[in-house]
Amino acid sequence: MLEKNKIRENIKNFIVKTEENHDILNFLYNMNKSDFDKSKDTIYYSGPYWDHSEVVSIFESILTGKWLVSGEKVNKFQRQFSKIFNHKDSVMVNSGSSANLIMIEALKKYYSWKAGDEIIVSAVGFPTTTAPLIQTGLKPVFVDIDMSDLNFDIDEVEKKITNKTKGIFISPVLGNPPDMDRLNSIAEKYDVLLILDNCDSLGSKWDSKNLSDYCVTSSCSFYPAHHITTGEGGMVSSKNEDIIEIARSFVNWGRDCYCVGSANLLPRGTCKKRFSKWIPGLDFAIDHKYIFSNIGYDLKPLDLQGAIGIEQLKKISKIHKKRRINKKKIDKFFEDNIDGIRLVREGEKAETSWFGVPIICDSAETRAKLVSYLEENRIQTRMYFAGNILLHPGYKELDDASKYPNANQVLEKVFFVGCTPTYSDSMISYIEEVILNYKLSCANK
Ligand SMILES: Cc1ncc(COP(=O)(O)O)c(C=O)c1O
Repeated sequence: MLEKNKIRENIKNFIVKTEENHDILNFLYNMNKSDFDKSKDTIYYSGPYWDHSEVVSIFESILTGKWLVSGEKVNKFQRQFSKIFNHKDSVMVNSGSSANLIMIEALKKYYSWKAGDEIIVSAVGFPTTTAPLIQTGLKPVFVDIDMSDLNFDIDEVEKKITNKTKGIFISPVLGNPPDMDRLNSIAEKYDVLLILDNCDSLGSKWDSKNLSDYCVTSSCSFYPAHHITTGEGGMVSSKNEDIIEIARSFVNWGRDCYCVGSANLLPRGTCKKRFSKWIPGLDFAIDHKYIFSNIGYDLKPLDLQGAIGIEQLKKISKIHKKRRINKKKIDKFFEDNIDGIRLVREGEKAETSWFGVPIICDSAETRAKLVSYLEENRIQTRMYFAGNILLHPGYKELDDASKYPNANQVLEKVFFVGCTPTYSDSMISYIEEVILNYKLSCANK
């Protein structure tokens, strides 16, 4: 058996050998470099921050892996992710939406929640923060947002707590956390859980702690727009290993067996009792692999996604720094030059790993004008996702959207631009130039 580094080297040589492969690898090496042409290129709001090391790791995982799906690489990625973000254990899934679904299923099972038990959630955000609550028979209880930072209004959160409330589902807006101290004391006062949708806020901190440190479980997305990417992918993490064991079962068809990685290939499993009597009352031996303790799903990632994740984790602190620097620069361009807008600052104790740069306009007209100017000049913009989720056809029966006046302003007045680490100096300068030109075009009218 060749040594791992030797294998990696061989694969690298193999990829670089022919002319054609050399060109491909060079292209991949250079795809994130700063050859931005301001006369024709687009500034995307986000995108993968990666290089040849992710590409080589994909080849390596395919050529050396024993099992194409979730195995050794995913296992290692889960362990490293848990270590870096201070979790006891994590389970990787095929998307952030799946992570939210699995997280809620696992919490519901672990805490024996009943159908109709209530979870408090912002009326504004991404649909698949709310969807799993409905899919698992829980009741989402909506709260309006605070227009200063677009996070849910914490006074409203407290007012909505009833004796059926089991948790408060936090989804920091574009990475920026709400006041975690206040939420923590509300959770303690009413004995409810804090649950974190960390899909947009990986690496954000409050009072020098990870946001997930305040929460029973957290989810994460590795879609290319997010802080780190594995193409598609997601993670559920917790300090409570029992919750992750349940989550792992839901990911793996509801299977009782918890063997992961190479343990999956052990003839008698990690427990060494694979062929014991697993079902009380049935006195013949049944394979533990085919005992189902949950009504589950199959939401497993490919092992090569784990391999990409391992490489991405090496870049996480650089990504955090670059996102913060870019946000600061872009904030200043808008602040110094554009009237009729407001920016969002991080809270006093926050160290936000920004997903994007939120811009709150004083009117729908200002937003429309600014957005179309930026888009015409090839700077991508995005809405803050669904805005008020209750305005959407799939969700409108859940509650009356008009009860949430601030949430209703989001689609009209709010948008965001990117601050991704892929921005080069020339891209940042171009963003400044476009904003200055917008200012001039307004002055000339
Ligand atoms: C806050 C939030 N939660 C969940 C998701 C879903 O993640 P995915 O796209 O990986 O399914 C997203 C997606 O962008 C998100 O922004």
